[in-house]
Amino acid sequence: MKEKLQAIKEEAIAKIEAAKDLDALNEIKVNMLGKKGELTQVLKGMKDVAPEDRPKVGQMVNDTRFAIEEKLEAVKKDIAKKLREEKMKKEVIDVTLPGTMHMKGHRHPNQIALEELERVFIGMGYEIVEGPEVEYDHYNFELLNIPANHPAKDEQDTFYITKDILLRTQTSPVQARVMETGRMPIRILAPGRVFRSDEVDATHSPSFHQVEGLVVDKNITFADLKGTLEQFAHEFFGPETKIKLRPHHFPFTEPSAEVDVSCFKCGGKGCRMCKGSGWIEILGCGMVHPKVLKDCGIDPEEYSGFAFGIGLERVALLKYEIDDMRLLYENDMRFLKQF
Ligand code: DAH
Repeated sequence: MKEKLQAIKEEAIAKIEAAKDLDALNEIKVNMLGKKGELTQVLKGMKDVAPEDRPKVGQMVNDTRFAIEEKLEAVKKDIAKKLREEKMKKEVIDVTLPGTMHMKGHRHPNQIALEELERVFIGMGYEIVEGPEVEYDHYNFELLNIPANHPAKDEQDTFYITKDILLRTQTSPVQARVMETGRMPIRILAPGRVFRSDEVDATHSPSFHQVEGLVVDKNITFADLKGTLEQFAHEFFGPETKIKLRPHHFPFTEPSAEVDVSCFKCGGKGCRMCKGSGWIEILGCGMVHPKVLKDCGIDPEEYSGFAFGIGLERVALLKYEIDDMRLLYENDMRFLKQF
C-alpha cells in the first residue's frame, strides 16, 4: 500500500510539473483526486485493510492527497504568474503616442446671441427671469389686452392644449406674471421658447425663441425706451448702428413701435442683407398699456413702463449673416462648427 501511494504521488507530481497550462492541471486534478481518480480508488480498497492498520493507512492516503493538492496549488500559481507576465509584456502602453482627439462642443449661435443679449441688458441693471412654456390663455392673451375674439389671436396661430391652456405664442405673458407679483420697480429680461402653428420655411418655425424686456417704475417715458434700445443696438450690432422707430400696433402697448437698425453690413447704403433699404427690422416695443398695468394690479396713475420683444433667431441670423433659419435647428456639425 505504501509503495502504491508513493508511486501515485510521484506520478502525480511529475505530471503536475510537466503541465503547461491551467487546463492540463485541472485534468490531472480530476484524474488523481476526482471521484474516479486513482487516489479515490485506493481509498475504496480500505475495506480490505486490516481494521488495526486502517488509521495508519488512512493517514498515509491523506498525506498523499495533501502533497498532491499542495503541488497543484503551487504550480497553478506559477502558471498564472507566467501568463500574467506574458500578457503584460504583450500589452505595452506607449504613453508617448498621441491621444485620440475628441470633437469639442460648440455653443449654438442662438445661445451665443442670447448670452450676448443678456450681457448687454444685465449691464443696464436687468434681471433675467423665466416663465412657463405651457401657459394659460389668461396670461398669454387676456391680461395682455387680447380678449377672446380679438383679431390678434388669429395672427398668432396657437397650439391649444385645452380651451384655457396653450403653448405660449410669445414671451409677453412673463410680463403679466412679473407685474402681478407687485414688486417694484421692474427691470426684467425674459428669454424663452415660444410656439406658433406655422409651416417651416427659411424665416418660420413652429417653435422659436423670443427675448422679452419690461421696465416699470415711476416716470418711465418713451425716451427711456428709445435710449435703452439705442444702447442695446450699439452694443449688440456695433457702435455705428442707428435705430429707427416706426409706429405700429400691439394690443398690450400704447403707443407701439417696430424698431429697425441701420444695416450693419452696408452701413445703410443698401445691400442684399437689408434688401436694399439700408434698414433691418429687429423688434417690437411700446409703452405698457394702462389697461395692462391696471389688470396686473399696478396703478397706471402712479407707474408707467415700457416693453419690447426681440426675436432671438432673427437677431442671431442677422448677427452671423445666416440666411436660413432652418440651419439653426438641423444641428449639422459642419454648420455649428463655424461659431
Ligand atoms: N409679443 C410680440 C410678438 O410676439 C412682440 C412684442 C411687441 C413684445 C411689443 C413686446 C412689445 O413686449 O412691447 O410679436
